[in-house]
Amino acid sequence: MTSTLAVFGATGQQGSSVINNVLADPELSQRYRLRAITRDTSGPKAKILQNRSVEVVAADFDTPSTLQAALKGVDTAFVVTTPDFTPDAVAIEFARAKAVADAAVSAGVRYLIFSTLSPIEELSGGRYTKVYPYDAKAKAEAYIRTLPIKCAFFCGGPFMQNFAAQVFLAPVKVEREEKWVWKRNNSPKAQYPLIDGVDDTGKFVGAILAEPERYEGKTFYGATRLYTLEEVSRIMSKSTGKKVEYEQISDAEFHADLKAFGGDILADMFVEAFRFYEEYGAFGPGTLEKVEWSVANARGELTTLERFFEKNPLELK
Ligand SMILES: NC(=O)c1ccc[n+]([C@@H]2O[C@H](COP(=O)([O-])OP(=O)(O)OC[C@H]3O[C@@H](n4cnc5c(N)ncnc54)[C@H](OP(=O)(O)O)[C@@H]3O)[C@@H](O)[C@H]2O)c1
Repeated sequence: MTSTLAVFGATGQQGSSVINNVLADPELSQRYRLRAITRDTSGPKAKILQNRSVEVVAADFDTPSTLQAALKGVDTAFVVTTPDFTPDAVAIEFARAKAVADAAVSAGVRYLIFSTLSPIEELSGGRYTKVYPYDAKAKAEAYIRTLPIKCAFFCGGPFMQNFAAQVFLAPVKVEREEKWVWKRNNSPKAQYPLIDGVDDTGKFVGAILAEPERYEGKTFYGATRLYTLEEVSRIMSKSTGKKVEYEQISDAEFHADLKAFGGDILADMFVEAFRFYEEYGAFGPGTLEKVEWSVANARGELTTLERFFEKNPLELK
């Protein structure tokens, strides 16, 4: 019997991954009828989805009245919320998540899969308080767990896509040398749990979709494995054929560089997030075990960083 799976963020990285993996999966594509949620049902991404026989329905987190209608007749929903970058960021993103979770309960949705992140403020004992997108999602996860709805969670590590997408963190050419350097406030031995967010989010969420009762209440920590930053440099060098080096800079230097690009909120967020990754593990205590369990139970082969750069060559400018 087929049931309807609503996918929020369907035109974005995580939601499109869920849709692509379900459509490509012989079992899941029979079990689930897809409903993509977007604010723009006539845009080019919506048209592509419609051409692949995916139902496209309009809704907006910031207009709660649209959410319940979009969830009518839905059995399972995948929800990824979008962050805010103002001092009210936690309240704003939490309100988005709460609106969609409340609408899911009202609409009689049976199972909610929420894209969460680590509660950095809590895990760091109040040391790091400005990684808003993490704390907003963690607060939403805690709220969802109190609701009368079955739930499971996907907690994605830093996306491999960020190496190109976050231009302010990309390797920069050293003048008069054939060498590129990328900088962070981490030691070269710091470990990041990297994931190909576009190809692989759906492999973790797919495991939940295949066995929802088995994974009820559980969290999949999305990463292929942990990579040290010096290892990332080696892989970047090999895949680009150019010399790429990692350099550790101080929190203050890193903050100043980021602030010049995107202001204090962005700078505070990255300085604190990267410190947290190194000091506590990006997924908190037991990060390695959490990743190993998630990889062992994922549905499909995960993308290594080497393979990611083969598919998405890194352009060094
Ligand atoms: N980058 C990373 O390393 C990383 C890692 C883990 C988690 N995350 C989290 O991932 C989230 C972003 O996910 P993503 O990268 O998959 O998204 P994305 O590619 O940035 O796309 C955003 C999606 O959200 C939808 N959307 C935006 N505003 C909306 C609204 N008001 N109502 C309903 N839908 C709305 C957009 O749909 P339409 O425009 O079609 O309406 C689009 O599908 C962030 O919250 C971030 O914290 C990121």
